[in-house]
Amino acid sequence: MTVPPAVADQLRALLDNAHAPYSKVHVAAAVESPDGTLHYGVNVENAAYPQGWCAEASAIGAAVSAGQSAIARVYVTSNLPDLVWPCGGCRQKIFELARPGCEVVTLTADGRSGRHTIEELLPLGFRLEQTPRNP
Ligand code: THU
Repeated sequence: MTVPPAVADQLRALLDNAHAPYSKVHVAAAVESPDGTLHYGVNVENAAYPQGWCAEASAIGAAVSAGQSAIARVYVTSNLPDLVWPCGGCRQKIFELARPGCEVVTLTADGRSGRHTIEELLPLGFRLEQTPRNP
């Protein structure tokens, strides 16, 4: 499956909105809900560096804020020449809401793309409902 051109165009346009004065790495992400709606976000850095957050986190926040509770697919793009894959923390954030087989699709400005399922990117990911709790 190719990346829908409208999604690729929107992601590339959103790179301008990233707040990344420190790393200069602009990232945009889209979360696709099972009903096909798309929710977008960009990375937001902070002078107190650890307080910044990733584009995927922004997009997940937008999806959840819009009432969505599941993720069918994630798209990511950046201003870097190589494919960017979600960081470890964002893999866990995606895993929390991912439908089984949820794809993460990453694309470059020049149109190359790659894809992996979230299970490939985060094997044995943590889910509370699979973890026995103490009585
Ligand atoms: N970043 C993202 O927003 N998503 C990724 O998948 C990888 C990294 C951001 C975090 C930081 O603002 C910048 O890219 C450089 O690490």
